[in-house]
Amino acid sequence: MDHWAGKVALVTGASVGIGAQITKALAKSGMKVIAIARRLEKLEELATNINRECNGKVYPMKCDVRQEEEILQVFQRAEKELGGVDVLINNAGVASPETIIEGSTETYRKILDVNVLALAICSRQLVQSVKKRKASGHIININSVAGHYAESINMPISVYCASKYAVTGMTASLRNEIVNAKLDIKVTSISPGMVKTDMVTDILSNMDKEARKSFADLPVLHDVDIADAVIYCLSMPLRVQICEVIIMPHEALATKNPRPYARS
Ligand SMILES: NC(=O)c1ccc[n+]([C@@H]2O[C@H](COP(=O)([O-])OP(=O)(O)OC[C@H]3O[C@@H](n4cnc5c(N)ncnc54)[C@H](OP(=O)(O)O)[C@@H]3O)[C@@H](O)[C@H]2O)c1
Repeated sequence: MDHWAGKVALVTGASVGIGAQITKALAKSGMKVIAIARRLEKLEELATNINRECNGKVYPMKCDVRQEEEILQVFQRAEKELGGVDVLINNAGVASPETIIEGSTETYRKILDVNVLALAICSRQLVQSVKKRKASGHIININSVAGHYAESINMPISVYCASKYAVTGMTASLRNEIVNAKLDIKVTSISPGMVKTDMVTDILSNMDKEARKSFADLPVLHDVDIADAVIYCLSMPLRVQICEVIIMPHEALATKNPRPYARS
């Protein structure tokens, strides 16, 4: 991580869960971290704790990533106050415990806005920031196994799988475009299996008792496992670009269950 010390990272969806752990890990590694989400009070609490615990430099900024103008303002502030953004962690994500066949259009829209469109807008702004400064950059998309194996996710989560397949596609397109434009920016997709966060708790709490039981005992990852993977990808020598990381709980593989998130 030495080459990133003192540089600026931006983490979307940093208020809780995986994003909060990534913010902590980046700050501990010596980066300045802009932490964005809608719940400013959670971001401020996180920043206070990290800055006190590890002498970190976390900058909380309120931003609803469904509002393009708010994203653009964050990048403008980053340029003015910190010189620009070098590393972008596209982490903000939402799911909803609804089926597609009976769910609402508003839910489809919310998931696609946050999981797909915001990722494109933030990535474009990161590329423009790095290009302007002739600097180096890295975009890490927090994808999901749902973006690779939709057949195995047999629970109601609306268009979440579709949104994560879009992340898989966009990661590849971004990498091609960046190579064509001869820019020094790496692009990585990190695809976790189930992680114990509010997102999963919310989905499970909306299931009927029977369905909940079949998922409750499944092995899960911890948010810190994903933060470790982010640091691993950023720590590679400049010549190495990690394109895709798929992370599953070890026990899920050990049981040789090819569809760990299918209802039995
Ligand atoms: N948990 C899992 O099993 C799992 C597995 C694979 C991949 N992932 C992916 O990991 C990422 C993080 O998920 P998580 O499990 O940590 O979820 P989480 O605990 O529910 O956290 C989601 C984060 O996204 C933010 N967010 C949601 N809507 C937003 C909006 N409109 N504007 C700005 N921020 C918004 C939330 O902040 P505010 O509410 O404060 O805005 C929160 O910080 C997501 O991309 C998810 O798809 C999760």
